[in-house]
Amino acid sequence: MTNTYARIAGTGSYLPEKIVTNADLEKIVDTNDAWIVERTGIKQRHIAADGQLTCDMAEMAARRAIESAGIDPQAIDLIIIGTTTPDKFFPSTATLLQERLGIFGCPAFDIQAVCTGFIYGLSIADKFIRTGAAKNALVIGADIFSRIIDWTDRNTCVLFGDGAGAVVLSADDKKGILSTHLYADGRHHEQLHVPGYVKGGKVQAGNAFASMQGMEVFKFAVNNMAHAAEEALKINGLKTDDVDWLIPHQANKRILSAVAKKLKFPEEKVIVTVDKHGNTSAASVPLALDTAVRDGRIKRGDMLLLEAMGGGFTWGSALIKY
Ligand code: UT7
Repeated sequence: MTNTYARIAGTGSYLPEKIVTNADLEKIVDTNDAWIVERTGIKQRHIAADGQLTCDMAEMAARRAIESAGIDPQAIDLIIIGTTTPDKFFPSTATLLQERLGIFGCPAFDIQAVCTGFIYGLSIADKFIRTGAAKNALVIGADIFSRIIDWTDRNTCVLFGDGAGAVVLSADDKKGILSTHLYADGRHHEQLHVPGYVKGGKVQAGNAFASMQGMEVFKFAVNNMAHAAEEALKINGLKTDDVDWLIPHQANKRILSAVAKKLKFPEEKVIVTVDKHGNTSAASVPLALDTAVRDGRIKRGDMLLLEAMGGGFTWGSALIKY
């Protein structure tokens, strides 16, 4: 009997039109381009237009992924969206997207794992496909972090951007996702969070802005993303040299470089988009993946190592034969 794998059949992404540069931010908070570039590697980020919603961006990315997979949208039988900024409290953005795509009946749900949301979604979809519960899964990471950022707080507002990325995973007897590794440690939930909750139509117990203890998050991100990547290699009996591309969560160029160094991974094999996209939360990994597929760096047969870390803390990795 042959094994069934979840193979990446197509990728897609979307970035809003509006670009905000570091020079633009200098006009609204006490910061400067040199500090932002040196401490984060970020030069610009895309910001959603007023009225543009997460589902709008997810739809664009999804349509591009479906087109690149060359399948009929009706063949999609599972929709998962990793997002922290859903259009509504409920229902899920995945169900809103389902309506847009005209696909009815298949399961559709959102994942809340903040910046690790896409890796969590990938892992769940992989299990659906391996067990025969789905044949063509749409897995998306989409976030509009600009809506939960305090634009007077220079500690956070320089870091984030908006965007969406998507993959279509299809059942195949050729190797695809080799393994996924998910982790969480809720003891750290206050180090990166939105403190407020809603009661009686109003935000209670704090505000509804993202707050972060930057240095703690930084250290945890480096150690734990490296650990998740090492686990993926160890379980598959592979070494750093066997991997063609490292596709990390695009939080901060210094975090990406520190993880690559820990893994003894050459910088030229690390996909970097943080300079142009900023941190797009759940969208960052699929956006980086799609960017490198479309510019021709990632080719069929390449070994990809994906890794991410986010609020919770949550973190994880995926090893994939593309
Ligand atoms: O998806 C995961 C989410 N988040 C992350 O991955 C972020 C992880 N953390 C980081 O990337 C970094 O910790 C930051 C980029 C947020 C901060 O870099 P840092 O090297 O840890 O700087 P710091 O927080 O230690 O601040 C150094 C100085 C401080 O001034 P003093 O106290 O030394 O006078 C800050 O007030 O830099 C100041 N500072 C800024 N200066 C100019 C903080 N933000 C800014 C800013 N512009 N935007």
